[in-house]
Order: sequence, then C-alpha cells, then structure tokens
Amino acid sequence: MVPAVNQIEVHPYFAQRQVQQFGAAHGILTQAWSPIGGITFYREGSHGSTLDDPVIGAIARAHGKSPAQVTLRWGLQEGRSVIPKSTKPTRIAENIDVFDFELSADEIAAVDGLDTGRRGGPEPGAVTLEAYGREIPDA
Ligand SMILES: NC(=O)c1ccc[n+]([C@@H]2O[C@H](COP(=O)([O-])OP(=O)(O)OC[C@H]3O[C@@H](n4cnc5c(N)ncnc54)[C@H](OP(=O)(O)O)[C@@H]3O)[C@@H](O)[C@H]2O)c1
Repeated sequence: MVPAVNQIEVHPYFAQRQVQQFGAAHGILTQAWSPIGGITFYREGSHGSTLDDPVIGAIARAHGKSPAQVTLRWGLQEGRSVIPKSTKPTRIAENIDVFDFELSADEIAAVDGLDTGRRGGPEPGAVTLEAYGREIPDA
C-alpha cells in the first residue's frame, strides 16, 4: 500500500527532484505546497522571492502572464498538483488562469535551472512530537 499523494515543498528554488522521482517510480503524485514560492517571499539575501526572479520575470513577459502564473504552469507541465494560497479574489482568479498558454521545453529547463537545493520550510526529520509538543489523542 502506497499513499496516493505526497505533499512536499516544491517551488523553483527548491525542487526536491529525488523525492519527486521516487514518487513517480511508485505511483505517488507529488503535490507542491508553496508552489509559487510563498515560503521564499520574506527571506533575506539572494534567492529571496521567486516572484522577483529575473528568469521567471522574462518568461512571464514573453507570455503576457504573471510570474505566479508561470511558476504554477511550470509545476503543472511537470505533472505536479499545485495548491497556491491567496486571500485575494483577484489573485485566486489569476492563479487558476493558467490553461491558455504553454511553456516551451527551454523555458521549463530555465526554471528547472533555478533550483538552489535550499529548503524554505522545516526539515521533515525535525518535525517531531517532542519539538512541536502536540498531543495526537487517538494515536
Ligand atoms: N504540508 C505542509 O507542510 C504545508 C506547509 C505550508 C503550506 N501548506 C499549504 O500549501 C498552501 C500554499 O503554500 P504557501 O501559502 O506556503 O505558498 P504559495 O501558495 O506559494 O504562496 C502564498 C503567498 O503568495 C501570495 N500570492 C498568492 N497568489 C499570488 C499571485 N498571483 N501573485 C502574487 N502573490 C501571490 C499570497 O499572498 P496573498 O494571500 O496576500 O495573495 C501568499 O503570500 C497553503 O495554503 C497551505 O495549506 C502546506
């Protein structure tokens, strides 16, 4: 028995290819959290917000789309489930409006090339009951 879906951090700056390949080999769909790179927005230094990335920006301009739309389209074309979050109706509509354009293989490769291997969220191994102190009543 394998899970149907594995939800992990995936965005242009952290692609987790080995985890994705393992999932693909075992029939597990990778679902990206932070698919437009929300986890990167407020960090300092290089590779801060993915939405400010010049490579993504150039692709967005070429298609008349936003950087968020390009990033979501990159995830979909690579076969992932993507679950962006927005509190704003206009952005929710924008994030769904990604089915009227297609990234070329070169554009996909350019976004792939942005991977830094730098995780934004916590290391999964560090997420323990001891660290977070949560009771799971029925466990
Ligand atoms: N399994 C896990 O461990 C885990 C961890 C984190 C998150 N998640 C789930 O994954 C979902 C998405 O992750 P996330 O919220 O970290 O990242 P995200 O969807 O990549 O980014 C969310 C951020 O992007 C902004 N945004 C959304 N659409 C935009 C657009 N079109 N243009 C510009 N900015 C835009 C949002 O601001 P506004 O709201 O102001 O638009 C918010 O600051 C969450 O809803 C959460 O349920 C799961």
